[in-house]
Order: sequence, then structure tokens, then C-alpha cells
Amino acid sequence: MNLFVFCILFTVAFGAPHKNRVFRANGRVGITGGTITEPGEFPYMLSFQDEVLPGAFAHYCGASIYNNFTSITAATCVYGEDFENPQSLFVVAGEYNLDNESGNEQRIKVTKIVVHDDFHLDLTYNDIALLQGEKSFEFNDMVGVVTLPSPYQQSSGNCTTIGWGDFDIKTPSSPILLKVDVPIVSDEECKNDYRIHNFQDSWLCAGSEGKDSCECDNGGPLICENYLAGIVSWGYYCGLSGYPGVYTEVSYYIDWIKSNAFY
Ligand SMILES: *[C@@H]1O[C@H](CO)[C@@H](O)[C@H](O)[C@H]1NC(C)=O
Ligand SMILES: *[C@@H]1O[C@H](CO)[C@@H](O)[C@H](O)[C@H]1NC(C)=O
Ligand SMILES: *[C@@H]1O[C@H](CO)[C@@H](O)[C@H](O)[C@H]1NC(C)=O
Repeated sequence: MNLFVFCILFTVAFGAPHKNRVFRANGRVGITGGTITEPGEFPYMLSFQDEVLPGAFAHYCGASIYNNFTSITAATCVYGEDFENPQSLFVVAGEYNLDNESGNEQRIKVTKIVVHDDFHLDLTYNDIALLQGEKSFEFNDMVGVVTLPSPYQQSSGNCTTIGWGDFDIKTPSSPILLKVDVPIVSDEECKNDYRIHNFQDSWLCAGSEGKDSCECDNGGPLICENYLAGIVSWGYYCGLSGYPGVYTEVSYYIDWIKSNAFY
């Protein structure tokens, strides 16, 4: 069966962006300024897909593998779904080229969703959710778990974000998994950039002009050293000077992840 693999629009489901915030889930483009990854380079990377027609799947968010049955994503990716009985949602491990089956793909139905109790859609506070798979991932060279940071561990320097999407907003979508190195921006600088009153400590900003995650990368990982430092959450457009990408800072949610994960 042929697949529809393009990043799909969820603007209606997510409502109007607040204060010009553009949710990274509700557009058609992805990683800005990226380069192509190698197959298996990021074995914890998941394509989060919606079965839009029987047998036809659309990539619309990223996610990361936490354990056999649990994936970590953004709450903005699952807003409006039936959390106890989600319909037509799948995570795909071992995915590389969305247009071409390699045989490494593991497409697993999502059977339950846990969203952070204090997730705030308009303000994108606590933008984190866990997905339960109907069956276990099979771990191999192409599929594996991500490492979590220590509680409240702070990140700095150059990190990497990953996703399926465009090199920039004007060129057609790339079906191949892309990566881009993004420098961490301090909370102070990011707060000034966005002029947000209630800037959250549990946000982590990263990116520079032309180097950013973008829409449809939502829920995907920001990797510092070798750990999951952030989850793609929001930003003002993509790759604009003075507007870094804003990520959910995973180190603030370690207890929450451990106590809500599926086993
Ligand atoms: C698709 O996958 C096959 C088998 O893995 C490979 O031989 C072929 O070159 C791929 N095609 C593209 C366009 O990547
Ligand atoms: C978890 O995955 C590993 C590797 O695929 C497998 O050996 C193990 O049996 C799985 N555990 C459960 C509880 O399914
Ligand atoms: C991050 O990478 C850039 C470009 O490669 C480099 O100029 C910069 O020094 C690096 N920063 C750190 C903190 O490593």
C-alpha cells in the first residue's frame, strides 16, 4: 500500500497560535539548515504518524523511544485526541526515508496517551506527553532507547535536533531524516528575544539564524552530548535571527517520565 508521507496541517485542531507563537506541529516544513543523517544514526528517533485513510499514513510529529512500550513526544502533538483510546495514531521506529520502505521500519499503534497535567496549550507550558505502544519495539542496530539527562541537568554548547522536513521554508519537503546543529541560547537571552513575561525555567532555547527545527518536527528530540535535552515545542517561524527554537527541557520532567511511563 502506498503511503502519504507529508507533514500534515493541524492548524484547526491546535487553534490559533497565541502571541504569534507558531506551534512546530502545524505546518508543512521541518528542520531548517539541516543535513542528511545516516540510516541508524539516531536509533531512538520516531516518526509519529496519523492514518489519514486506511493504509495511508502521514508524518506529522517526531518522538523518541524511552523504553519497550513508551515514546516521548510533545503534548501539542496529541492535543484533542482521545487519550484513553486514541484512534489512528502510530509511531514508526527504524524510519529513515519516508518515501521508501527499507524493511527496518516498526510501525506500532498507539494505545494510550499521557499528557502532563499542567500542559497549557495557549502558553505551551509543560509541553510533554508519553505514548503507549500496542507492542514492544524490537531493539536492534536501527532501533534503540534514548538516554535521559539527570534531574535538572543544565545544557550548553552545540546540540543537535532531528526531523523530517525541508532545508528551508521555500523548498519541497525532504523525506529523509535530517539533522542540524543548534547552539543553546541562555534563558536570559531567550527571554529577552521573545519578551515573554512568564518565561518558563522548563524551556530550553536553541538555534541560530538559519539553524532551527520547524513545523512538523514537534515532539522530536534535541540531543546534547548523547542525552535527550529537549523536545521540539514552539518558536516564532523557523531559523529567524533573534528567535531561537523553544524546547521542553526534559531534565525538569525526569520524575514525571519515570512515574508515568508504560512497562
Ligand atoms: C529505496 O530502497 C531500496 C531498497 O532499500 C533501494 O535499493 C533504493 O535505492 C531506494 N530508493 C531511493 C529513492 O532511495
Ligand atoms: C524489550 O525489548 C527487548 C529487545 O527487543 C526484548 O528482548 C525484551 O523482551 C523486551 N521486553 C519486554 C518486556 O517486552
Ligand atoms: C558551535 O559550533 C559552531 C559552528 O561549528 C562553532 O563556531 C562554535 O564555537 C561552537 N560552540 C561551542 C560552544 O562549541
